[in-house]
Amino acid sequence: MQYKHKLYICCIGAGYVGGPTMSVIASNCPQLRVEVVDINKDRIEAWNSNDFSKLPVFEPGLADIVKKCRGKNLFFSNKVEECISKADIIFISVNTPTKTKGIGAGFASDLKWIESSARQIAKFAKNHTVVVEKSTLPVKTAETIKSILNSSEDNVGSDQEKNKKTFSILSNPEFLAEGTAIEDLQNPDRVLIGGEDDYSINLISDIYKTWVDPEKIITTNLWSSELSKLVANAFLAQRISSINSISALCETTGADINEVVQAIGTDSRIGRKFLKPGPGFGGSCFKKDILNLVYLCRYYGLNEVADYWEKVVDINIWQQTRISTLIIQKLFSTLSNKKLAIFGFSFKANTNDTRESPSINISKNLLQDGAKLNFYDPKVNKLEILSELDEISNDTNVFVCDSALKAAQGTDAIIVLTDWDQFKYLDWKNIFEVMRKPAWVFDSRVFLDKEYLKSIGFKVWSLGS
Ligand code: NAD
Ligand code: UGA
Repeated sequence: MQYKHKLYICCIGAGYVGGPTMSVIASNCPQLRVEVVDINKDRIEAWNSNDFSKLPVFEPGLADIVKKCRGKNLFFSNKVEECISKADIIFISVNTPTKTKGIGAGFASDLKWIESSARQIAKFAKNHTVVVEKSTLPVKTAETIKSILNSSEDNVGSDQEKNKKTFSILSNPEFLAEGTAIEDLQNPDRVLIGGEDDYSINLISDIYKTWVDPEKIITTNLWSSELSKLVANAFLAQRISSINSISALCETTGADINEVVQAIGTDSRIGRKFLKPGPGFGGSCFKKDILNLVYLCRYYGLNEVADYWEKVVDINIWQQTRISTLIIQKLFSTLSNKKLAIFGFSFKANTNDTRESPSINISKNLLQDGAKLNFYDPKVNKLEILSELDEISNDTNVFVCDSALKAAQGTDAIIVLTDWDQFKYLDWKNIFEVMRKPAWVFDSRVFLDKEYLKSIGFKVWSLGS
């Protein structure tokens, strides 16, 4: 099929993936028209804000791209049906969280947003449409999407009555990490495209080839592509749980986790990446994607495989409980009437995203023991922190501060939970002055200068040593 007109791309879902991904496509391909649609009015308003610091997603470099392309070949709107009807290519980039009820609750992905997107496409698409799974999905989801699209009312009935719509389905999972999304999209390690027909695979490949080296474009069948995304996240998370499990062993044996990381990471077969010890992985995807993999394995009767991957999540939770318990023990085994400062609430540095952040569980554990907590995070706002701690916070136990120094005021301990670079360069001497003594620093990210902090007078606990 030849497209004589300007290719029209619609992306359903203007979230952390849809927004940045489509911005980078629009920026590299001025010949395309890219419309990002969402049912969430506030989100779309924020994408269209004249104040570029108010975009709903904070990513270095994103605001500049949106500034350059918005209104030219990049558009954000709530006109879901209209955009679907005009689109040649539709990326589905909606949320796929873990199911909270029914069959597979706590493990399987909730595909209701995928299903509703597919139903809208079935209803409003015209002619031939290439439908691309951008969301992370259980293997075989394309089967579900296909069956919804093929039962489009326009395609049901006798041949004469049919106002034939045709669809091709592709899987093109996204591997960007938050905080480096634009760099990852601009210079990806690989682009993965799974599909069944060469025409649509080539159509999407050609878009990426505008700025990605063709050798980095991998094409597979649909199921390999869907599964590879889950497996990539499982392998990355597994490395974190592995190193975190060893951090505990270091603490009891006198080994030092940073030295162990260096010693093993220089083996080129192991590599240095994803070996940073910490309070456990957070973010919206690792946990949900592994649990989804676990569910799939059990579904297919592979119980040993399921148990193996589930342990990665178990260790992650254990690491957070272990750190909370250790803090309580070091502070004389009770937090009643003690004030502590939490430095960092986002799940990692350079993002305002708090989903599944280790700070949530650790803060809850400390609150449960009677602590009062002062929070400071350079990018996460008060409302976000309060809503994450909703069931356990009140006016007397949670305070959100606008500087590290204010958060430290009158506290017994500072718990560093996010690796924001600025925490290394705080005026730690001043901070020490405003704290109650003995003043503790708990460095769960192993990135502060322990000896320097000790020289000021702090008692210091650093993970894995
Ligand atoms: P998100 O929650 O930030 O955004 C999803 C958006 O889809 C929401 O704004 C929601 O309103 C919208 N939406 C849902 N149903 C809709 C419908 N029927 N019509 C229009 N809009 C609809 O989610 P996200 O973080 O962008 O993740 C999206 C997918 O990408 C998930 O499957 C996730 O696993 C995957 N992923 C995420 C990341 C990441 O870093 N966040 C990276 C790679 C892959
Ligand atoms: C992760 C993957 O890195 C992306 O490739 C993937 O596309 C994405 O999930 C997804 O599917 O959503 P992201 O969650 O944004 O990206 O961030 P990561 O940099 O992977 O960090 C995840 C968590 O692991 C963070 O809490 C981080 O602090 C922690 N982490 C990471 C460590 O504790 N140690 C490390 O060495 C690396």
